[in-house]
Formats: sequence, structure tokens, C-alpha cells
Amino acid sequence: MDYRILGPLQALDGDRALALGGPRQRAVLALLLLHANEAVSSEMIVHELWGAEPPRTAAKALQNCVSALRKVLPAGVETLRSVRGGYALRVGPGELDRDRFETLLAEGRALQAEGDAGAAVERLRAALALWHGRPLSDFAFDEFAQDEIVRLEELHLAAVEEKLEAELALGLHPHLVPELEALASRHPLRERLRGQLMLALYRSGRQAEALAVYRNARSALLGELGIEPGRDLQDLERAILAQDPALDSSPTAAPAPARVGASRPGRRAAPPLEGRDDELELLEAGLEDALAGRGRLFIVVGGPGTGKTSFADAIASRAKDRGAAILWGRGWHGGGAPAYWPWRQAIRDAGQELPQPPPGDDDAARFRFFEVVTELIRSEAAQRPQLLVLDDLQSADEGSLLLLEFLASELPEMAALVVAVARDDPPRLDELARYATRTLRLEGLP
Ligand SMILES: Nc1ncnc2c1ncn2[C@@H]1O[C@H](COP(=O)(O)OP(=O)(O)OP(=O)(O)O)[C@@H](O)[C@H]1O
Ligand SMILES: [Mg+2]
Repeated sequence: MDYRILGPLQALDGDRALALGGPRQRAVLALLLLHANEAVSSEMIVHELWGAEPPRTAAKALQNCVSALRKVLPAGVETLRSVRGGYALRVGPGELDRDRFETLLAEGRALQAEGDAGAAVERLRAALALWHGRPLSDFAFDEFAQDEIVRLEELHLAAVEEKLEAELALGLHPHLVPELEALASRHPLRERLRGQLMLALYRSGRQAEALAVYRNARSALLGELGIEPGRDLQDLERAILAQDPALDSSPTAAPAPARVGASRPGRRAAPPLEGRDDELELLEAGLEDALAGRGRLFIVVGGPGTGKTSFADAIASRAKDRGAAILWGRGWHGGGAPAYWPWRQAIRDAGQELPQPPPGDDDAARFRFFEVVTELIRSEAAQRPQLLVLDDLQSADEGSLLLLEFLASELPEMAALVVAVARDDPPRLDELARYATRTLRLEGLP
């Protein structure tokens, strides 16, 4: 089961959303979810749902709700058990989105504390992706839900702050300013957000605006609460005034992929590769060119398991050491992926979303879309060299390959190294190879 309360209440059995009935019945389920795997007395449920003076029919109405819920929930009677004087809802580990969220948040914080901002961002983005609206949004005015709504809203904001902290550590500040501005104006007394906005602005060369944020924060705090900003914010203001070098970002880590559970190429030192010295040397030369502003495309093909991904990972490690940002996308073989899936992932690694691709087969619209994406990469590369790896291209849609060709034709003037990886032989390989510095064919290691 997949129960959701980080938004409107939903219960999914696989992909199927269960029909949970009217407001009262939904409230019973929500209340039991908040007390998952605990015995909750009928008396308490009635009290929570009907208030201090429930009508005499309330107990009967509750029984009706429970039997209706048992009809829709899989293994209803075991899932929603009768216990002495009440009920208990059985919820397995991870079946409630709130629990998954709290686990991911805790993991993100721990990784952040260990200094692994890349992995932290990945967890925290996954945590935030579980949200579909205000928590328990259909119970915004129900007494029983109030404490949990307040607690979850606070946790959500804390997760957003934690994610921004990790993104700042990754050197993503140019992308964070708009989000931080919106958040700081929605939460004007939240000092951590103000501090993050100051830092993002300062690192983007906008020192005067960073100081203005401090002044605004100070007057909001004085006006609303009659207090001065906390020590951290004051120290930050002083450091900005002094242009303290400690404030400069050191974007040595790669922006994190947004995917959960996927390998995290290039973040840590890749394990040593055997027998790939010649190939590595070629790619390293390509990397040098890219760092000098002469973009290059390399194609890597080979049979299943010959070490293509590992090889690209090794390049990513070297590129990362040289200060490049790593964008990594891969084709999905299982079907059902949206158009331009590898590109969506890669662009997300840059902290952005892929622009909306045009529907249908309007060539002119597609051309403009390709141009927009290419410009996006160009402007990223103008700030910091980029390594773009597109892996498993044998499973990519044709649009993705065409877009790759388009970008490749523009590459020579960008600080970007593109590595296209596929099991042999991907469709359109010949067209793509025209733009490639080299096509490397990996053989399996003896
Ligand atoms: N040069 C190498 N030295 C040592 N081990 C390697 C090397 N290349 C690959 N391996 C190991 O071989 C296995 C397969 O490698 P990898 O996943 O990179 O292959 P692949 O070509 O990307 O496979 P696929 O076609 O399934 O995508 C991995 O366990 C990897 O660690
Ligand atoms: Mg692979």
C-alpha cells in the first residue's frame, strides 16, 4: 500500500487509487494513519471527529465508516483490525509517505553533516518530491489534524532549507536566487533563508543586494518581534562587508543527480579501471580541450557489460577534479519514459528543468526547442565547464539523439565535453559520429 498525507489524502494499491468515500470516512482513515499500528479507541475517534458533544448516532456512523473502509482496503479486516474498544490500522514500513519523507530527510541531514553535499541533495530532493500540496490538505480545518499539519509544514520548510544549503555547497548559487527570494518573502522572519539568499547573491557578484537583504531582515525582525538578527546572520553581514574569502564557494563537487538510488557518477573517486589507459588518455585530451573552451563529443560503444558506464564514470571523476559540473542522463529500456528522458535528467543535474518540448512533429518548433536547450547548456558552460554524459542511448528516444546531434554541431565553441554512451550500435550512430572527435569501441576485458 501507498498511503499519502503530504497533500490530499490518497491510498494507492499499486497504481490504483482507492475510492475512500465521503469526508467522514476519509477522516477516519486519516486519523488512523496518524496513529498507524496503534490501538485507537472508538471513544477517542468519536471525540476527535465529532467534538466534545457527539450525537448519539456517532458510534454507529463510525462503525459504518470502518466497514466501508474495510471493503476498499486490500485484506480489509486484517488491515483495519478491531481491537478491544477500538481499531488499529496496519501500516508497513515505508507505506506512509510521511514516514518515507522523514527517513529521506534524516538521511539527507546525515550526509550533509558528513560533507557529502551531492548525496545529500539527492536524498533531500527525493524527500521533497513526495509532497503533493499542503499536508493533510482535506483536513485543514479539522481539529484532529492541526498538530500534525503544523509539524509537517515546519518539517517541509526545514527540508527545503537543508536542500538549499547542500545546493549552495555544490556551487549552484546562480540558480538558487529566484527560489530563495520567493521563500524569503513568504517567510520573512526565517533567518536561515535570509542568510542563504545573502550568500547566493554575494557569490553571484551581487554584494549590494546581499547587504540589502540583511537590512530588510533586520527591520522585519525588529518590527515584528523587537529583536536583532541572530549571531549567524550578523556574522554573515560582517563577512560580506569584509569580502571574506571564506564566503567564496568551492564548487568542487558535482551537482547531484536528482535520481534516487541511481549510481552517483563522478562524485567520489571512481575505482581504478584496468586496461583502459589508451582510451582514458584520449578522453583526457578531449577534457583539456573542453576546459579551454573547445567543446568535444566522444562516442563510446561496446557490448553489454564491457565497462562503458565505468569508463564514463572515470572521466566524470577527472572532470569533477578539474572543476567541471557533471550532467548525467541515461536512456530507460523499460518503456514509458517521457520524451527526452536522458536530457531531462541531465538538465536537472544543472538545477534546471528541461524546457517543454513541442508536441507532434512540427519541425520548426522542434528546431526552436533544440536551440533553447543548446543555449541553456551554453550559458551553463559559460559559468563553469560542463561534462555531459548521456548513457544507454540505445534506449533513448529518437528526439534525444537528434538533440544530441544538434548540440554536437554547436559544441566547438563551448566549454563542454559530451560523452555519448551506447551498446552497439545505437540508431543514428553514423550521423552522430560525424560530429565526434572519436568513436571508441570498448572490448570486454580478458
Ligand atoms: N576497466 C575495468 N576494470 C575493472 N572493472 C571494470 C572495468 N570496466 C568495467 N568493470 C566492471 O565490470 C562491470 C560492468 O561494467 P559497466 O556497468 O561499466 O558496463 P557497461 O558496458 O556500462 O554495461 P551495460 O552495457 O550493461 O550498460 C562492473 O562491475 C564494473 O565495475
Ligand atoms: Mg552501462
